[in-house]
Amino acid sequence: MAGRRVLILGGTNEAVDLATRLHEMDGLEVISSLAGVTTKPRLPEGTVRRGGYGGADGMADYLRDQDISAVIDATHPHAAQISRHAEQAGEATGVSVLHLTRALWTPVIGDVWHLVKNAGEAAEWLATSSLPDGARVLLTIGRSDLGAFAKANRLRFIARSIEAPDSDAAAIVDRVILERGPFSLQSERRLLAENDFACLVAKNSGGASSYPKIQAARERGLPVVMIQAPPPPGGHIVHAPADAVAWIEARLGRL
Ligand SMILES: NC(=O)c1ccc[n+]([C@@H]2O[C@H](COP(=O)([O-])OP(=O)(O)OC[C@H]3O[C@@H](n4cnc5c(N)ncnc54)[C@H](OP(=O)(O)O)[C@@H]3O)[C@@H](O)[C@H]2O)c1
Repeated sequence: MAGRRVLILGGTNEAVDLATRLHEMDGLEVISSLAGVTTKPRLPEGTVRRGGYGGADGMADYLRDQDISAVIDATHPHAAQISRHAEQAGEATGVSVLHLTRALWTPVIGDVWHLVKNAGEAAEWLATSSLPDGARVLLTIGRSDLGAFAKANRLRFIARSIEAPDSDAAAIVDRVILERGPFSLQSERRLLAENDFACLVAKNSGGASSYPKIQAARERGLPVVMIQAPPPPGGHIVHAPADAVAWIEARLGRL
């Protein structure tokens, strides 16, 4: 197995977890790939490369040039393009691709969810909702789509993101909470209570690590504008890093 290389498409805690697990396997070189959008990402074990490939063809070239034996796409459920490119690059090169993606959340009794497709629809819903003018809304969708909420400027926004938004987006919100998850249920309860939010905007990101805010919202009867994830990628899908390790182990002899 010497010299076998696995490429992990990352940007998630699961990708870091997986890199740690695979790094311990003899004869396997792990390369983690980050989009390069976060200036201080959590760095996984092994080699890290940053930046895009220039589309599916560029990724296929990279897989050939670097003699990659398998790809594990462990990107965020909302990062649809890179997952699609991985599938296409795998088809073009014959390199096996596995998608490690979180099981998405589904509403349970007590949840008050308004399902939307993207940030623009979320803003539209808020603008025309029965929430009173000046009601405070928590945005937990990262920093890149905050600009969409300018159309709902009758409301007040607090955003939470890992890194600061650009100045245009920052101007739309009253305050940015700069924090990196995971967040405990206790701290999410405190955040919602202390700020007296009238609504939460979240992406359906699945998994356990960012679920406490959904639980805390349910407990308070807080409506959640839920941005749905794009359709899952085709191909092989698992939901747990341990299953991705098993997939690699099962293929080691064939890689
Ligand atoms: N979307 C979210 O809500 C979210 C949340 C948390 C973390 N993330 C992470 O942030 C990254 C970007 O997310 P996105 O929604 O912008 O993705 P995206 O829309 O699917 O991808 C946009 C482009 O960014 C590049 N890219 C994305 N992920 C990459 C990776 N792991 N390694 C190398 N290049 C990558 C690719 O560029 P080329 O076409 O040039 O190859 C891709 O075409 C992903 O790695 C994702 O796991 C996203």
